[in-house]
Amino acid sequence: MQTTQTVAETRAALATLREGGKRLGLVPTMGFLHEGHLSLIRRAKAETDVVAVSIFVNPTQFGDPKDLEKYPRNTEGDLALLRAEGVDLVFMPEVADVYFADAETIVETTRLANMMHGAVRPGHFRGVSTVVTMLFNIIQPDVAVFGEKDFQQLAVIRRMVRDLHMPVEIIGGPTLREADGLAMSSRNVRLGSEDRAAAVVLNRALDLAERMVREGTTIAALKAAVAAHIEAEPRALLRAVDICAPDSLEELAGPVTGPVALMISAEFGGILLIDQRVAAP
Ligand code: PAF
Repeated sequence: MQTTQTVAETRAALATLREGGKRLGLVPTMGFLHEGHLSLIRRAKAETDVVAVSIFVNPTQFGDPKDLEKYPRNTEGDLALLRAEGVDLVFMPEVADVYFADAETIVETTRLANMMHGAVRPGHFRGVSTVVTMLFNIIQPDVAVFGEKDFQQLAVIRRMVRDLHMPVEIIGGPTLREADGLAMSSRNVRLGSEDRAAAVVLNRALDLAERMVREGTTIAALKAAVAAHIEAEPRALLRAVDICAPDSLEELAGPVTGPVALMISAEFGGILLIDQRVAAP
């Protein structure tokens, strides 16, 4: 497994790894890897011949500098996991390797980036789409795999790739859960034990919503029931419940007649967690 830091050494290493026209898969990450990331890497390996993983805590997608500072890191542990998965190359740049000090170019999906979680975290999705564009340009993968847990992120990336004719296939990997149902996330380690126990309410709210969708309901009733379920947990500070069309993320109203994407976010002791589910009648 090779590790690279600069754009030039990454391109040189990949040119060799791809010799003979091998297909390249990329799994972009911010490190502190867990089983959820590993499942995306296994998917990339199944689809391609050579797999690259990037580990880069991207400053432009954090609104709050304290959130960026506290983002968990574990480079040695990450590299051991990636080696065990048989990853070919790990790109681990410093901020200055990726961002020019006087950079002025951004990539933004103007509607998708500024709604829902994007309205709660202004600039977040612009930071994501800009850095993912840079990673695609540096690594030039045939395939890139992202988690479905970050549902809006996946929708933003799919739209950006389509709109800008980027020659990369985007694959979404399913959300992995802890034994009690909490969606795996690098943020989970920051939860105190009571908040960790309380956070399971997100998955339970989605279970409830899925049942309601199966049995027949309206968007308004669904939204109210999910919000009430989360708000009944005293440690949860509900931030958003969004119910929308799975591809366009357009808001829906009236009776639920087809698949809906349910996206929820809540804070537990100041840690923002998100979860999602696509449910169909
Ligand atoms: O999902 C993530 O970990 C990040 O948002 C990503 C896609 C690696 C971009 O920094």
